[in-house]
Amino acid sequence: MAKIREMISATEISTRIKDLGAEISRDYEEKNLVLVGVLRGSIIFLSDLCRSITLPLEIDFLGLSSYGDRTETSGIVRMTQDLSSPIEGKDVLVVEDIVDTGLTMKYLLENLKTRRPRSVKVCTFLDKPEGRKVVVPVDYIAFTIPNEFVIGYGLDYAQKYRNLPYLGVLEEK
Ligand code: IMP
Ligand code: MG
Repeated sequence: MAKIREMISATEISTRIKDLGAEISRDYEEKNLVLVGVLRGSIIFLSDLCRSITLPLEIDFLGLSSYGDRTETSGIVRMTQDLSSPIEGKDVLVVEDIVDTGLTMKYLLENLKTRRPRSVKVCTFLDKPEGRKVVVPVDYIAFTIPNEFVIGYGLDYAQKYRNLPYLGVLEEK
């Protein structure tokens, strides 16, 4: 049986996301907001976050993969699925589960900028600053966490545990 230690509770997550949504709602008034969720890790965060934003907005997704089924980054990023609609002239807010080394986000931001959006910002559920290998701008952060491998609330270990309603650390597999 897997042993999981809770790091952030479901209640703490929902409180923080309401505040973050209010902040984004203030910053994006009068803008052309499109939330771009990075599959698959961001889906739970995005679905809660978008309901705490009180503005008209669009939702789109793209798929990126930098990991095999391992707990360390390969450093090689691959686009597995592209956006459904153009983002030219739009205010893009990238919604990610976690920024660790920053390699995924660096690749993504460079890719998105070639499509002439009006602005691109980043909103991440988790920031793991100790893991950073490249500098990337992160505009909104729900929680900053220490350098531990976490699961739940969208984040997986070997594709499992995404459905945990809280954030946990896998102590025994
Ligand atoms: P980066 O390229 O190292 O910043 O990693 C980004 C991606 O690695 C994230 O979108 C996650 O999918 C995955 N990742 C990084 N750290 C963790 C973790 O602690 N748990 C689960 N997935 C992680
Ligand atoms: Mg991811």
